[in-house]
Amino acid sequence: MKLQKLQSHLEGIDEFDNPKILLEQYPTSPHIAAVMLHEIQLKFGDIAGCSVLDLGCGCGILTIGSVIQEAAYVLGIDVDKEALEVCQRNLNEYEISNVDLLQQDIVNILPKDLKDSKKILSKKFDTVIMNPPFGTKKNAGIDMDFVRAGLMMSTNAVYSLHKSTTREHLCKKAQDWGVSIDFLGQFEFNIAKTFKCHKKKEADIEVDFVRFGHKNK
Ligand SMILES: C[S@@+](CC[C@H](N)C(=O)[O-])C[C@H]1O[C@@H](n2cnc3c(N)ncnc32)[C@H](O)[C@@H]1O
Repeated sequence: MKLQKLQSHLEGIDEFDNPKILLEQYPTSPHIAAVMLHEIQLKFGDIAGCSVLDLGCGCGILTIGSVIQEAAYVLGIDVDKEALEVCQRNLNEYEISNVDLLQQDIVNILPKDLKDSKKILSKKFDTVIMNPPFGTKKNAGIDMDFVRAGLMMSTNAVYSLHKSTTREHLCKKAQDWGVSIDFLGQFEFNIAKTFKCHKKKEADIEVDFVRFGHKNK
């Protein structure tokens, strides 16, 4: 599907009713979501016919976009019940049925020891996609927890967004974990004045679009 068509399909998706700052509920814009999903499919063929896991799915823009890009099955996980309700509403609106939603704290299913995690997180997906919390709200490191969980639950690759300022740190982590890392692009992520603590009307944050690949994938 052409990028522009994918983006216009995603423009009808409802956003958070009551966004929660502590959960960093900034929705991915239809443009950014469409570019990500289009690239993942076109360059790597990692969506069509694949099982996809959307970690921190929020209102479901990456989930629904994956279905539009012909994923075989998608599971969306989020800690927030209200976000999942909006997501379910969106799925109903788009008449999508090959998706399951799960309320789960990603951090709590991430034991410190990698070997134990492998036993617990036995379900594997071809591809994991996410726009994780960046770890700016007294939750430093949560973006890395999300990637690590994604790596444990995937066989091919994890696609994620990260603040560009963390680029060096990401490379080091990828090396520690023995996975490849590719920077696929950079976006200006516009955060509208959603929360009271935002002084400026809106702010653009530079984010990297990153692919973590399992060896030989
Ligand atoms: C930046 S938003 C992205 C939402 C959506 N994926 C999108 O692209 O629009 C991050 C999401 O992660 C969820 N989240 C935050 N902390 C979480 C945790 N510990 N476990 C699971 N989900 C979490 C939030 O509720 C929110 O929906």
